Amino acid sequence: MDTLHESHFPHTPRPMTDQIDTLLTEQRSFSPDASFQEAALGAADLYAAASTDRLAFWADQARALDWITPWKEVLNWTLPHARWFDGGQLIVAANCLVRLLHGPRRQKAAIMWDGEPVDRRVYTYWDLAREVGRAANALKTLGVTKGDRVAIYLPMIPEAAIAMLACARIGAIHSVVFGGFSAESLRDRINDAEAVALITADGGYRRGQVVPLKRFADEAVVGCPSIRDVIVVRRVGGGEGGASETFASMTEGRDHWWHRLLEHASADCPPEPMEAEDILFILYTSGTTGAPKGIVHTTGGYLTHTTATTKYVFDLKDEDVFWCTADVGWVTGHSYVVYGPLAHGATIVMYEGAPDWPDRDRFWSMVATHGVTVFYTAPTAIRAFMKWGPSYPAKHDLSTLRLLGTVGEPINPEAWIWYHEQIGKERCPIVDTWWQTETGGIMITPLPGVTTTKPGSATKPFPGIEAELVDAQGRPMAGGGGFLTITSPWPGMLRTIWGDDQRYQETYWSRFPGRYFAGDGAKLDEDGYWWILGRVDDVMNVAGHRIGSMEVESALVDHPSVAEAAVVGKAHDLKGQAIAAFVILKEGQTASPSLRDDLRDHVVGKIGAIAKPEDIFFCGDLPKTRSGKIMRRLLKDIAEGRTLGDTTTLADPAVVSRLKEMYGEE
Ligand code: WTA
Repeated sequence: MDTLHESHFPHTPRPMTDQIDTLLTEQRSFSPDASFQEAALGAADLYAAASTDRLAFWADQARALDWITPWKEVLNWTLPHARWFDGGQLIVAANCLVRLLHGPRRQKAAIMWDGEPVDRRVYTYWDLAREVGRAANALKTLGVTKGDRVAIYLPMIPEAAIAMLACARIGAIHSVVFGGFSAESLRDRINDAEAVALITADGGYRRGQVVPLKRFADEAVVGCPSIRDVIVVRRVGGGEGGASETFASMTEGRDHWWHRLLEHASADCPPEPMEAEDILFILYTSGTTGAPKGIVHTTGGYLTHTTATTKYVFDLKDEDVFWCTADVGWVTGHSYVVYGPLAHGATIVMYEGAPDWPDRDRFWSMVATHGVTVFYTAPTAIRAFMKWGPSYPAKHDLSTLRLLGTVGEPINPEAWIWYHEQIGKERCPIVDTWWQTETGGIMITPLPGVTTTKPGSATKPFPGIEAELVDAQGRPMAGGGGFLTITSPWPGMLRTIWGDDQRYQETYWSRFPGRYFAGDGAKLDEDGYWWILGRVDDVMNVAGHRIGSMEVESALVDHPSVAEAAVVGKAHDLKGQAIAAFVILKEGQTASPSLRDDLRDHVVGKIGAIAKPEDIFFCGDLPKTRSGKIMRRLLKDIAEGRTLGDTTTLADPAVVSRLKEMYGEE
């Protein structure tokens, strides 16, 4: 049996067929902070209410939104298809904007945005509503209607949130594609969703350089027959005819400048009422096959889940300033930059660029400038801050902070403690929140003021969420290491995979029949606390980003010199995991450092810089089972320099020991 010991923790996913055993030794714990007593009073009741009547609990949460027609049924569940709040109608953009508009708070700041250079913009709820109205009307003029798909490929600028909300306002389904993805990735996503319009920008800033998004968009759209219009936000260009022209050449009839369209559009756009189960967005994420999955989220349940978790996990009050550092290209940016906080009427901070630009204190200088009170980021960022040292946060006044959060990957206890001491100055509770693109909102998390936290543990399921640990046969386990499953539907859950319901059923509901299988291994300790151990399938987590092994393999095999490739994630101090690729070249091709660079560039071109392999190892053979399946688990052992696991199922065990010897020599 394989064991995980602390030196690997927590970045060592185990293959699905293995037993999972763990020897975690973390003993520290932190009691709830007295300053959160008010939050605690409400929250303690939540657990009680949810355990007495789960559906009534979620219905109560849904009532916090404004509905134009009440729902007829809280949940309609025909495994594995859920309908939440069926029959109910609501207006998303109204919930996110208008609630504050009719009172004295309409000039409350909604978005405080910093560009990477020196520019800064503030949108009040009033401003935001007007911009969203204009953008919605602009989309309408182009003939975009309810149910149409609109792709959004933007840097982290306010227009990203505005574009999402404008789609929601007219009932169009947005599909945001992270601005770091390549033209080819963008094209595949546009084509899968058959988007009719693309919203992009001439470029964005990253570490002082311009990322020429429009050029990538042009390259993508050539292969996208469904796209009728491309709308271009002018971000890097000066005036008309200015520098922008170097980054954006406009195609007559197809391309439109965003500012031109909005200039003539009315701010008043009657919102489209949405059925609770109308699709709000599609977001593509990596899975265990080559093609990314279009995760489908609907309206009423998603908004209920994100609003409730925003309220209780982040304890947001009217005077709070909330900064979630995620990009809107990922689910965290959807749920906790845009929908949850805005539906809650919060003030959010948005930032365009890199954390080390112009220097490594950028985040802390922004916390001080904007008076951020609640800060939510990823462990990979915290590990980078740790490496850069405490002098950067020490330069700034971080006394406004009162609560810290993390998401995206397991946080090592040492990084947790550093965050607690250097950023939270031992005053701020930390919420380590486990969830996924598929879950829509936070699933396992402490509640500030209520939960005693343990560094490295996401603690307990949110009220109304039912999680259970099972063994490889699907038998419930009271403790120890196993597989994380969710046993009953929740409002923010994905409804299906766009265009492939079969894949939805197989991916999430067939490994353990009747249960949602998250793809993560976990440990449950003697206090019933969850310790997430990472993915147990062929999905890697590189710097908090999900990348499928198969996607990178397909990109490598696409190169003319490559015959076969196998890709694994290996433990990495900063990124959590880094990509290690084992490549077999075609007959007549010779391994060389320049070919290695070429292969790296090829993967970047196919997927994007986030998928660049750290190690590329040329080999003559790969370890395979007798049925021809590559055993990535053994490759991982090799890449991490570990003793090889069980090799008895291999067709030729000699292959792997040869590989191990050679890898060590490289
Ligand atoms: C991992 C991000 C440990 C996990 C919201 C999951 C975590 C995948 C945590 C989803 C956490 C996320 N502790 N692991 N607090 N949060 N993960 O879809 O492996 O980009 O399955 O959603 O990230 O990644 P995704």
